[in-house]
Amino acid sequence: MCKNWMLDEMFQPGVDFTNVDEVALYDSKQGTNFEVKKELAQKLGIKKGDVVIEFGPGTGALSFACAQEGAKVFAVDTSKAMLDYIQMKYKKLKMDNIMCIHSGFLYYEHKGESADFIITEYAFHHLPDFWKAKALLNIYNHLKIGGKFYLRDVVFSFNPEDMEFYIENWIEKFTSSGLWSKKEFELHVSKEFSTYSWIIEGLIENAGFKIISKEYDSDLKTYASYLCEK
Ligand SMILES: C[S@@+](CC[C@H](N)C(=O)[O-])C[C@H]1O[C@@H](n2cnc3c(N)ncnc32)[C@H](O)[C@@H]1O
Repeated sequence: MCKNWMLDEMFQPGVDFTNVDEVALYDSKQGTNFEVKKELAQKLGIKKGDVVIEFGPGTGALSFACAQEGAKVFAVDTSKAMLDYIQMKYKKLKMDNIMCIHSGFLYYEHKGESADFIITEYAFHHLPDFWKAKALLNIYNHLKIGGKFYLRDVVFSFNPEDMEFYIENWIEKFTSSGLWSKKEFELHVSKEFSTYSWIIEGLIENAGFKIISKEYDSDLKTYASYLCEK
């Protein structure tokens, strides 16, 4: 049951994903590379018949890749505009194994067979750390025993004392091409909730997961991927 003190995850501070034009622009800037997503789905071992839940699929490239491997995919996003975009795309591709669901990390209730995989890329930072803990419990509860949780996001692996250097360096690197604006990156840091690797890892392990592998980008120290097992 929803209490008044609970977070409304449908409301997002930071970048606006409720607008259809913003979504199309986001997709063009992301430069969706299906091959990269296909490689990831295969590396994770996603196969025919697996139940996969993706939280925050955005415009859906990874969900498509998993569906192409034959998985039954539940794409769960708080942005109706993102889900409409996915539906438009998959209709064209004639895929019937992606289900789009308007919900989020915190309150999604999965019906039916538990998931073999729960995956998420660049979406977890939309939740403050207190709520990340609840989201991880929800993820844990929706997985089969032995099921895998894959998380990639902006995660800071630098020392807090060096934050200014690494944040400025990151913004500079991604905005120098002109594709992404400085404002988008500034908003990410000032209004959204990317956090330190040691906080994320504590939260993941506290939810009951075992972290099987982790990868930090070595120079920027602003991205990390985790593969975890229930
Ligand atoms: C930066 S986009 C990333 C999209 C895609 N995964 C990618 O890698 O391009 C973040 C996505 O997470 C969604 N999102 C934000 N908060 C969410 C939540 N609490 N639960 C599920 N999805 C959420 C947004 O609507 C958006 O589609």
